[in-house]
Amino acid sequence: MDAPSRDSFSGKFGVIAAAAGSAVGLGNIWRFPYVAGENGGGAFLLVYLGFILAIGLPVMLSELLIGRKSQKNVFGAFKTLAPDKPIFMSVGIMGVGAAFMILAFYAVVAGWTLEYTWLAVQDGLAGKTSAELSTLFKSFSSSTVGPMVWMVVFMVMTAGIVMGGVKNGIEKYTKILMPMLLVIIIVLCIKAITLDGAEKGLLFLFQPDFSKVTGSVILEALGQAFFSLSIGMGVIATYGSYIQKKENLLATAFSVSVADTLIAVLAGIAIFPAVFAFGIKPDAGPGLVFETLPNVFNQMVGGYLFSIAFFVLLVIAALTSSVSLLEVVVAYFCEELKMKRKAATALAAGLITLLGALCVVSQDVFDVFDKTSSTILLPLGGILIAVFAGWVLGKNKVKEELEAHGGKANYVSVLIFVVKIVAPIAIGFVFLKGLGVLELIF
Ligand code: PFF
Repeated sequence: MDAPSRDSFSGKFGVIAAAAGSAVGLGNIWRFPYVAGENGGGAFLLVYLGFILAIGLPVMLSELLIGRKSQKNVFGAFKTLAPDKPIFMSVGIMGVGAAFMILAFYAVVAGWTLEYTWLAVQDGLAGKTSAELSTLFKSFSSSTVGPMVWMVVFMVMTAGIVMGGVKNGIEKYTKILMPMLLVIIIVLCIKAITLDGAEKGLLFLFQPDFSKVTGSVILEALGQAFFSLSIGMGVIATYGSYIQKKENLLATAFSVSVADTLIAVLAGIAIFPAVFAFGIKPDAGPGLVFETLPNVFNQMVGGYLFSIAFFVLLVIAALTSSVSLLEVVVAYFCEELKMKRKAATALAAGLITLLGALCVVSQDVFDVFDKTSSTILLPLGGILIAVFAGWVLGKNKVKEELEAHGGKANYVSVLIFVVKIVAPIAIGFVFLKGLGVLELIF
């Protein structure tokens, strides 16, 4: 029944590079620092790390195994594995919907990174004061033509890679670029922590103040964990369907989660010392990385080249994530609507570009897409994925898939307990609390 021509990743490193490529993106370097900044810093980080470990990792593993077992797109996966339980097809529908929403605003931010790359090349960020850099970002991001053009350019780049397929498109580039990103961030961190007054930033990031933890902070941390790991909407299930049986899925999920968390924390270390050193507010919002890091480049030897390298790599990190989002929709169009890959890619990218245009002209649409996807659709998808693995597939089928590479999955009882009980209850609770529903009941 499986399509014989189904594309796949070539091996372990390719799988990890592509999945980490999806996970590591603007969510780590752009979104994590500013969401942490708006939600109290250290306490947010701690709650976030707890969610990654206790919920993110098990949900990611569940998604990988659902995808690999079914060999299908996110909608087809649930249809194939449980044809008598149509409720789970809603994961597919929500997943495709979330891909549309996320990619629409994601492409706008990725467009900003293209503009900043261009500015860096022209040396247009050099010599500016902190206040000038803030004004520059605000006036650019609230204008229409520039952001619109760059958003379209970015969508064309994304569509170009997705048309090329999995092995020769996605895998080839991510293998080289992800390690480069790591090196650049580490150098930036070193520079940032040697700035005058860096301790304030590090304390903000690492010293938890629990009085700041509220229902909405916890919901934001959960949403950020899902967003950053790319889980809860079928990206990881879709990639799972391209993973060969010889690969160890636990090792994959573990490596991806560690890489993702590491890059987010490193981005925080690079940004918060500079935030305090240059008098920027930690809750400055979506402009944080764009307003902060150019200050650091301006103080560095080789800042010109470094700023170009940084923004180019940010574009690339965005691209390896946007490709995974588009792939969810394209795999769905190809397999469920029987479209050809090229036509499916053009249609999906065209529709998403229209939504992206709405995000450019309306800050409200941008915010609604961002918030609805990360704090509603991804957690809901996460609950259904966990319930599906725990209750519908059950221990034996899960074990069989996790041991397909020939090793032993001794941890399967713990995993089943978590996905059957802990994850659905924890996600459900946080979700209702964050939305304020619990306060209405109690
Ligand atoms: N994980 C990506 C990031 O952190 O930038 C964004 C993302 C990709 C979110 C894919 C969701 C997704 F399905």
